[in-house]
Amino acid sequence: MNKNMKIIVVEDKIQLGRTTSQMILDFINSKPIPVLGLATGSTPESTYQFLVEDYQKNHTDWSHVISFNLDEYLGLTMDDKQSYRYFMNYKLFNHININKDNTFIPLSICDVESFANQYDQMILEKGGIDLQLLGIGENGHIGFNEPPADFESLTSIVDLVPSTIKANSRFFATIDQVPVKAISMGIKSILNAKKIILIANGENKAQAIKQLVDGKIDSTWPCTALRMHNDVIVIIDKKAASLLK
Ligand code: F6R
Repeated sequence: MNKNMKIIVVEDKIQLGRTTSQMILDFINSKPIPVLGLATGSTPESTYQFLVEDYQKNHTDWSHVISFNLDEYLGLTMDDKQSYRYFMNYKLFNHININKDNTFIPLSICDVESFANQYDQMILEKGGIDLQLLGIGENGHIGFNEPPADFESLTSIVDLVPSTIKANSRFFATIDQVPVKAISMGIKSILNAKKIILIANGENKAQAIKQLVDGKIDSTWPCTALRMHNDVIVIIDKKAASLLK
């Protein structure tokens, strides 16, 4: 195991959300201008729910926070219910006092190639991501960096592999509606974050977590690039941890 990787095993998805949201709150309370990297998908949902509950109870201030999301499906407008912009607004941003002008999500309707080239620069101009939240695909993808991943990649247009399209079809009426391309921060963009928290729950993530923690650095498991980072916290439930030594 990488000594720079701290593993926290929690009981279930609720505890995962509780633990992760507390770390995010401690982080945003600790810096004058915190820059957060955010993920979508089902794994961070409980984290966002706890953050919203915290805002309702404690009015934690988000007005100074800047956020960058990892990825967006190609070709969906911002108000499309399947877009990651819609997801973030609906699950988090609409319920806290973050300034939406400071929430950045890769734009999928525009000259995407040139937007992709600008995204890493936009992050740099804000001082770089201090804390990056990541989920993980069953195939070990982080962001939408599918295997075999280029560990030097920056934000770019990517093709989703059939297993990801199938996994994500649970959010769509039919599998044909799942976009086959996305714009995603690259592996290098992710590794540029100062601190990374990767979260996972469920048995279907156990193999990817085993590769992340115990496997060798290998582009066929994109998540293993995180072993080259010096500050990674992996928060997983017992099921996702079930194959660890
Ligand atoms: C989402 C993202 C993806 C997901 C991964 C897991 O922004 O970048 O890497 O984190 O596909 O998705 P869920 O959490 O739905 O299992």
